[in-house]
Amino acid sequence: MAKIGNIELGECPLLLAPMEDVSDPPFRAVCKEHGADLMYTEFISSEGLIRDAIKSRQKLDIFDYERPVGIQIFGGDEEAMALAAGIVDTTNPDLLDINFGCPVKKVVCKGAGAGVLKDIDLMVRLTKAVVRSTRLPVTVKTRLGWDDSTKNIEEVAERLQDVGIQALTVHGRTRVQMYKGEADWRLIAKVKENRRIQIPIFGNGDIDSPQKALEYKNRYGVDGIMIGRAAIGYPWIFREIKHFLATGETLSLPTLTERIAACKKHLYGSVQWKGEKLGILEMRRHYANYLKGLSHIKEFRTRLVTTESLAELDEIFSEIEAHYSKQELTVA
Ligand SMILES: Cc1cc2nc3c(=O)[nH]c(=O)nc-3n(C[C@H](O)[C@H](O)[C@H](O)COP(=O)(O)O)c2cc1C
Repeated sequence: MAKIGNIELGECPLLLAPMEDVSDPPFRAVCKEHGADLMYTEFISSEGLIRDAIKSRQKLDIFDYERPVGIQIFGGDEEAMALAAGIVDTTNPDLLDINFGCPVKKVVCKGAGAGVLKDIDLMVRLTKAVVRSTRLPVTVKTRLGWDDSTKNIEEVAERLQDVGIQALTVHGRTRVQMYKGEADWRLIAKVKENRRIQIPIFGNGDIDSPQKALEYKNRYGVDGIMIGRAAIGYPWIFREIKHFLATGETLSLPTLTERIAACKKHLYGSVQWKGEKLGILEMRRHYANYLKGLSHIKEFRTRLVTTESLAELDEIFSEIEAHYSKQELTVA
């Protein structure tokens, strides 16, 4: 049974990964509805929080129905991270996660995200500063190491546990790999096997089917699985994996009506949370995923990503439903 602080997560919980510009409240709402056990906000800049930047502040929005939910922060400066942890504390999430894995240049070159993988002492100091500044359980998400020659995740896990983190998620790639190649979970298994490690270890990277989730859970012995890209436009991945882990049976695929309903819930949530203009605009990146597998969808999709009217979007969805109702659906 995985447990973080007082949060009981059950047997092999499924976590929704923090994803910038994706894991916002409207997206989290559909993932929660379809079985995500623990979710994270997209990462939030510690400096932005301190400056009171509107964009960073808005990312702190969490809602009771999505609990347990964690807020993720990043930064390379101890004082800023400590102050940001104090701000997160006031918004009352269930936990606070530190990002030591983001490979993006603008983050790494400030010595934050995966940049810290080059300096484990700094990583430990940053973690200590955060743990001291919050009453929340602190967790960390990171990668195997900076590059092939510095895969130091075993040392990292021990040292971060020693300064008080209560769970660790490891993405089975290095910073240099970015998203290339296949995630390698072997070192994640070694961390889990280390007798000194008492905290839950969650595996992350490339899980995109119930069969793979079961295989990786059994082979690498992790306490839970974090899922990112496979959930984008396909929140059913959570309930499909859960059902398969519990019964060995595959659930039938979501129907077209269910897919459109989830997509519309996501759209309406976006509009409610971001306002009509921005909500409609930012939803555009999701349609291709929700509608994957529908043949000759391009024309409908083009209309979805060009209209600025909610009423028109509704109309296009009705047309899609009518048009494809007789067609056999393939795997999304
Ligand atoms: C669009 C996108 C945004 C991401 N943003 C974040 C982030 O804000 N914080 C973080 O820790 N990881 C972030 N990641 C990494 C994911 O959390 C996850 O580690 C990675 O996608 C591997 O998991 P997957 O194979 O299940 O997608 C992001 C990934 C993607 C694709």
